[in-house]
Amino acid sequence: MTRFARRAERVQPSAIREFLALAGQPGITSFAGGYPDPTLFPIEQLHKIYDDLLTPANASALQYTASDGTPELRALVAGRLTADGMPCAPDDVLITQGGQQGLDLVAKLFIDAGDVIVCERPTFLGALIAFNPCEPAYASVPMDDEGLDTDALEQVLRTTQRVKLIYTVPDFQNPTGRTMSLARRRRLVELADEFDVMVLEDTPYRELRYDGERLPSIKSLDTSGRVIHLGSFSKILAPGLRLGWVLAEPEIRENLSLLKLAADTQNGTLNMRAAAAYLSGFDIEAHIAGMLPTYRHQRDLMLASIEEHFPAGVRWTRPDGGLFTWVTFPEGLDTAAFQRDHLIPRAGVILVPSAPFFATEPEVNHARMSFSGVPDDRLVAGVTAMGGLLREVLA
Ligand SMILES: Cc1ncc(COP(=O)(O)O)c(C=O)c1O
Repeated sequence: MTRFARRAERVQPSAIREFLALAGQPGITSFAGGYPDPTLFPIEQLHKIYDDLLTPANASALQYTASDGTPELRALVAGRLTADGMPCAPDDVLITQGGQQGLDLVAKLFIDAGDVIVCERPTFLGALIAFNPCEPAYASVPMDDEGLDTDALEQVLRTTQRVKLIYTVPDFQNPTGRTMSLARRRRLVELADEFDVMVLEDTPYRELRYDGERLPSIKSLDTSGRVIHLGSFSKILAPGLRLGWVLAEPEIRENLSLLKLAADTQNGTLNMRAAAAYLSGFDIEAHIAGMLPTYRHQRDLMLASIEEHFPAGVRWTRPDGGLFTWVTFPEGLDTAAFQRDHLIPRAGVILVPSAPFFATEPEVNHARMSFSGVPDDRLVAGVTAMGGLLREVLA
């Protein structure tokens, strides 16, 4: 007899876990993962930092510390956010276990069973995984090349009861790679004010821009304190550190802190000290700038290969940053079945089929493809093989 709480029904194994297990295997080309390229981690610098920290003089790096995060790291994050148009003090920042914990804590703070979270169509799968135990209902709003369609959002807000939160990834969204235009960002804030709804802005790819100018964050346009801004060191430093942050109004930040204390007491002191030492001892902006040409090259190569090899009738996004393009196949093609029956057995290629990225009414004829970390020759060979199979299947 199961004694699990009701919320456990909403905690299901991820539909993509099974084939992600294939990713590391020889002979498999993975466009599925979306991990940052490990050759870009600043390993030498971190090695030196950890060496220094693991000495008797720095024994406090192995001690408990403040649950909101070490004061140095909070101050350094606040400084970077301030430089990015979000003036704030160290106390406004909560350090979290990656952006993912921010998603979990915000849902715990705001969502009662049946409250509605508005998501983009499609949205970040990991956010749905974080939100689900709080038993939300979902509404989803279509996107186009300018990001979330704010006219459709207005319609949803007018016709849906109990909307608590709008969740958006405005910069180089996971999974589509799309970026919300400035006009849409402004309109989103206006609508959130008008309908008195919170906005959760999730920005792990914000600094991975390969073309064009950085747009103001949604938080920087917020005048009523309803935008909660999440960020992460995962894509700009290393995801294994599990370091992210929340920027929110004091009352929200304090309550998120209490929930964090309940969940895990604090982030690991050692990693917070290491990140602070990295930020104060090295030039992270130069490090980020140094990564961009690699990702830009990988993006360009993937888009050019797709252009050359995919058959007519297939569409894809052209992201200005981030790690993903979103490919749309003609209706009638079920990407999961195509992957299972053709792509994996015949080409050794994996990607992420679209259905799990939809909070409501899943669409099956898209795929998320990541260009990060795949060697050039394998990237081209994988896309070429995929194009051949698509021609055959769509013929
Ligand atoms: C949109 C988005 N939000 C949050 C996360 C969580 O990342 P992390 O917890 O490593 O910061 C990811 C990771 O892929 C993501 O794509």
